[in-house]
Amino acid sequence: MNMRDQLEALNAKTLEELHQATSAAALEEVRVRFLGKKGTLTHLLRGLKEVPDAERPAIGTLANTLKETFNNVLAQRMNDLKHQELQARLAREAIDVTLPGRRPHAGGLHPVSRALTEITDIFLQMGFPAMSGPEVETDWHNFEALNIPADHPAREMHDTFYLSPGADGGRRVLRTHTSPVQIRVMESYKPPLRVIVPGKVYRCDSDLTHTPMFHQVEGFMVDRDVHFGQLMGLLETFLRRFFERRLPVRFRPSFFPFTEPSAEVDMGCLFCEGSGCRICKGTGWLEVLGSGLIHPNVLGNVGIDKEVFSGFAFGMGVERLAMLKYGIGDLRTFYENDVRFLTRHAGGKDI
Ligand code: PHE
Repeated sequence: MNMRDQLEALNAKTLEELHQATSAAALEEVRVRFLGKKGTLTHLLRGLKEVPDAERPAIGTLANTLKETFNNVLAQRMNDLKHQELQARLAREAIDVTLPGRRPHAGGLHPVSRALTEITDIFLQMGFPAMSGPEVETDWHNFEALNIPADHPAREMHDTFYLSPGADGGRRVLRTHTSPVQIRVMESYKPPLRVIVPGKVYRCDSDLTHTPMFHQVEGFMVDRDVHFGQLMGLLETFLRRFFERRLPVRFRPSFFPFTEPSAEVDMGCLFCEGSGCRICKGTGWLEVLGSGLIHPNVLGNVGIDKEVFSGFAFGMGVERLAMLKYGIGDLRTFYENDVRFLTRHAGGKDI
């Protein structure tokens, strides 16, 4: 084969290789194999000195043309590959803008927090600011000062969690109600007093209608001439605001060691409006609060002159009120933290 034919053949082969290469690296490899120092074209052109003088310029021109063609095809292939790669990437990363957006789960208040907020707001508007006290209590604050001595049968009702004694050796408990905060506030501040106490309480009891931790809101007022009529008016107003209904409210005589007289407060059943249903156990009434006038012994225990001052106190279970208001049937759902339950009862209020 003469040199011209060899060049033509080599050219055809390398161009074919360029077309078959599928990456920038493969193209470069073809280039080096053809044009590199040890490349096939370089090698072939070494034989140029053997070519007769008369043919040499034409062969040289041909070699240059081939090189130029090669470089043009190479550049073209490089471009094609880049374009292909871009197309592939665009396809891979394509976004369907018609798909519905994914919204992160919106947080909201837990129904217990929601009820606590609503209760404290109503009382704040009526002049009762909120205060708090410790959940680990002394026997004195949780029982003794509230007129519940060690041998009093009322202690049985409380299913107390007892803790090991504190540094002073005194017995400590997880508070079984928010009433000990009455004592703490009356020990620290002088009347007139108006306070509510939202908080957690603990009882060693767990079944369908009891959880070992639940929430109460305590409230009390101490001043000159505080009487039962004020307590009745306050609680009736509170219940009507909280439930957003003008339901009948009745006070039924009851007993608590720290109030005298004591009353349980019933409200007309929200669900049957008095005709009797499963929720009110056929009575037409729902029991919603404990209350009474603060026992003179309790005022005496905190050094308040019972001849000058009197007071009332009341306490309510927050889970129970939340269940009635938001129509929640099972107490335990409050503490399962099922997102579907939480979302349904978040009340549209963001945190
Ligand atoms: N502490 C009582 C309870 O836990 C409720 C209560 C509070 C009753 C204040 C009367 C006055 O059941």
